[in-house]
Amino acid sequence: NWNMEEFIENTIEEIRKEIGDRKALCALSGGVDSSVAAVLVHNAIGDNLICVFVDHGLLRKNEKEQVEKVFRDQFHMNLITVDAKDRFLKKLKGVTDPEKKRKIIGEEFIRVFEEEQKKLDDIGYLVQGTIYPDVIESGLSGDVAVKSHHNVGGLPDDYDFELVEPLRQLFKDEVRKVGRLLGISEEIVERQPFPGPGLGVRVLGEVTEEKLNIVREADYIFRDEIKKAKWDKKIWQYFAVLPDIKTVGIKDGERTYTYTIALRAINSVDGMTAQWVRLPLELLEKISNRITEEIPQVNRVVYDITNKPPATIEWE
Ligand code: XMP
Repeated sequence: NWNMEEFIENTIEEIRKEIGDRKALCALSGGVDSSVAAVLVHNAIGDNLICVFVDHGLLRKNEKEQVEKVFRDQFHMNLITVDAKDRFLKKLKGVTDPEKKRKIIGEEFIRVFEEEQKKLDDIGYLVQGTIYPDVIESGLSGDVAVKSHHNVGGLPDDYDFELVEPLRQLFKDEVRKVGRLLGISEEIVERQPFPGPGLGVRVLGEVTEEKLNIVREADYIFRDEIKKAKWDKKIWQYFAVLPDIKTVGIKDGERTYTYTIALRAINSVDGMTAQWVRLPLELLEKISNRITEEIPQVNRVVYDITNKPPATIEWE
């Protein structure tokens, strides 16, 4: 049982000793792990840590703004945000296979990150938010074989950087504790898991800007209502998916032929198995009404009642 305050003190000291006056680069995603790792290293070396946030256009609503608010305005970190939306969309054009999409997004992410790195001088270190379960998982096959998982931050190994992985020995709940002690807001510390390829694997089939906007808006409404109903702390992961189908509906007496949104809310301990959440029917109805009223391209909402297994948590 670690004392997290002691952990923070020792780790900052160690990082300071190791990195000295050299510079470190960090791929910040806004997720719990990369955020805590970045703030920890920032405490040790200040402005010599440069964080890069890549907006691949597959993010949730307001995600980029939130990252800027927290890391630039609150922590005064050296943050570079890259708008790479068009690049990713172009690469994804016409691609429908989920694994191909993952591969393209992962590779393009590395390319964008490398380009940013090349603009900077003397980077000696690369900060990564690897935590203990990642260390174990990378040594096993298991669930990983199902999908070519994991963080888009997976970087090529032909770098001459030294890796800094200050969270390597921590479990998720310890990472959250450290995050809180460092003053990171609950919004980030308690953030639900979000896949590296982002909305790219929640728009089923070909990814287009229109489809991304639809699923982003539905996801926002879903999260907003879950939070208002105070269910957010009771659910491990919840999100909207845009299946690649259109169905017939009726609105203001007129026939419509538009998209379906699927909602998924699951509880899980480690993502390996999951149970669908019994949300109150009134809440589901409210969410369904809002989605169909506020998003003109949606005329139908369904709720996913499948556990993992046999389904996976994501639809792709
Ligand atoms: P599945 O869908 O495999 O998801 O049951 C298990 C957990 O992993 C997340 N997930 C991903 N995370 N890159 C990631 O970083 C991915 O490609 C990816 N696919 C799934 C998923 O959100 C869930 O928490």
